[in-house]
Formats: sequence, structure tokens, C-alpha cells
Amino acid sequence: MKTIPTPFTKQLKIDLPIIAAPMFLVSNEDIVVEASNAGALGAFPALNYRPIEQYSEALKAMRARTQKPIGVNIIVNKSNTRQSEDLKYALEAGVELFITSLGSPREVIAQAHKQGAKVYCDVTNLEHALKVEDMGADGVIAVGQGAGGHAGPISPLVLIPWLKTRLKIPVVAAGGISHGAAMAACLTLGADAVSVGTRFIACREARIDQAYKDAVVKATPEDIVMTSRVSGTPAAVIRTPYIDKVGTELPWAVRRLKEHKLTKKYAVPLIHLFGMRSLEESASKPSWKTVWSAGQSVGLIDEILSVREILQKMVREYEEAKTRLT
Ligand SMILES: Cc1cc2nc3c(=O)[nH]c(=O)nc-3n(C[C@H](O)[C@H](O)[C@H](O)COP(=O)(O)O)c2cc1C
Repeated sequence: MKTIPTPFTKQLKIDLPIIAAPMFLVSNEDIVVEASNAGALGAFPALNYRPIEQYSEALKAMRARTQKPIGVNIIVNKSNTRQSEDLKYALEAGVELFITSLGSPREVIAQAHKQGAKVYCDVTNLEHALKVEDMGADGVIAVGQGAGGHAGPISPLVLIPWLKTRLKIPVVAAGGISHGAAMAACLTLGADAVSVGTRFIACREARIDQAYKDAVVKATPEDIVMTSRVSGTPAAVIRTPYIDKVGTELPWAVRRLKEHKLTKKYAVPLIHLFGMRSLEESASKPSWKTVWSAGQSVGLIDEILSVREILQKMVREYEEAKTRLT
């Protein structure tokens, strides 16, 4: 496949400025290995493998199938009690890229740098981006409006150039990118790479319920709604009869428990637990309680392809978009 060199590809020694983004319940060994072997960088959330022994096995299996750089996403807030083990096993397996989300990346940066691994931190605004740059992050992932997962509030059209005005480290654009023209747009705005999640839900290698993949192919951008019911913080999901029935806000009593200083420490993990359980059930088998996580780029996804085909198509579309500009 073609190479598209940027500061990001040079830093990570890869061919394409594309991360197959970490996705809870969706990312797996095949997606990571296929993406990295095709010249992009496959990444996955450490927590997709539970218990920890399975995570360690998965890392070994991926390493046996690719010598190309791979990435691990570590949730760096208190809800993740496995943080230090997640980091330790990944470093032992020689993981090249860490993606941190939802907390302070200080410890990950310190440990990863001892082994020459790079750390990119999810950010949604300039203040947080400057903070992680100060801590020594190698780059940021600018999560904009329309993204799957915990989308940021700012349009990528503004977020990317805004971060570029002040940051010295590379910026990776995330949110709504499923087409090569969007990648060309992001690189034109100053991004050094793109991080693509939703597009890979509808890939052959994903071992999720077929109905979830079909829903991604069928959905329009208007079907994506933000709900606080999954984790307590707004997250993007596909609108289904179940979402319509339960609404997108936490019930009033749960909100009170979450906000009260005496109860919030118990309420927040419980909201997480129930939210993750409903995501897990919906992703793996038919369920009337359907909660399917996805971003607005569902509107541009119209077929299920292999990881390699998705990347080849994006590169083709990127080249076509470039010729339109000239
Ligand atoms: C199904 C799904 C699960 C996700 N899970 C995680 C996760 O566990 N950790 C994380 O940092 N980001 C997660 N994300 C966000 C992605 O890593 C990435 O930032 C996002 O998908 C980019 O936007 P896009 O979906 O519009 O391409 C998830 C996104 C989706 C769609």
C-alpha cells in the first residue's frame, strides 16, 4: 500500500497516518493485527480483555502475529483498578503506543518513556492539551464533535487548527472520520494523523452481533444521540426503540445520588457497571435493551469490509480528494 508520511508516521515508524481507534468491546486481536500489518496502527482498550490473564495472552498473541507498532488504550481514572498492570504487561510486550483517556497520564508517560514507547492523550480542548504537553505527552488525540464514545463538544474544523496554534507536539484528529476525504480535510487543517473508530465497527474482523454491524451500515447521522445512561458522562449511541423508551438522561434520583458528595463515590461506579453491562449484552447477542455505541460517521458507512479493504479505500479516497484540491 502507498505511504503517506507525516510527523506522526515518522515518530511511530509506520506507513499510514491512521490509528484503528481503541473501542470497548469491538477492538480485538484480528483488527489490531490487520490494521498494523496494513501500515496503519491498530489499537485496543486493555479492558477488552478480562481477567488480566486474558490481556497478557492477547498481547503475546498480537506480538506473535505482527512486528509492526501496536497501541493500547489505558483508562487512567480511578474506575480502572488495573491501571498499573495494564501498563506493565503492555510494556513487557513491547507496545509502541499508549493512548490514555479520562484522567492524568503522568504515570503512563513516565513508565512508557523509560522504554521508548510513545504516549498520546485524548483531549477535547486546548487547556487539557497544554497540560498533557507539559507532562511530556508525545502527542494528543483531538476528540471532536460527532465522534463515537465520549465525543468532545467542539467541531473538528475548529478544534484541530485551535490546538495547532499553541501545541508543539503532533495532533491526531478523531471524530467523524470514515472517508479518505475527511482524512484529507483533517491533514489540511494541520492534523498529523487521524484516529478512526466507528468505521471499524462494520468490519469483517469485528466479532460482535451482526445486528450491531448492520445498524451501523443502516444508520444516518441523525440516528446518533448522546446519552448519559451508559457511563454518567454523555456518550454517542445509535437511537433504538430501547433508547427512546428509557431516554438519554439518568433518572432524577440517580442524578441526585451521583451529584451528592456522600453518595457519588458509590453511585458513579454503579452507573458505569450497569451501563457497561447493557453495552456488553447489546454488542454480543440480540437484546431488546439495545445500546449500540457509534458516532455520526455511520452516515457515510454503507458496507461491511475487511480492515485492509477499509484502509485501502480510505487511501484511495484521500488521493482522489487531493486531486480535487489541485
Ligand atoms: C464502540 C466504541 C467504543 C469506544 N471505546 C473506547 C474506549 O474504550 N476507550 C477510548 O479511549 N475511546 C473509545 N472510543 C473512542 C474511539 O477510541 C475514538 O476516539 C472514536 O471512535 C473516534 O471517533 P469516530 O468513532 O467518529 O471515528 C470508542 C468509540 C466507539 C465507537
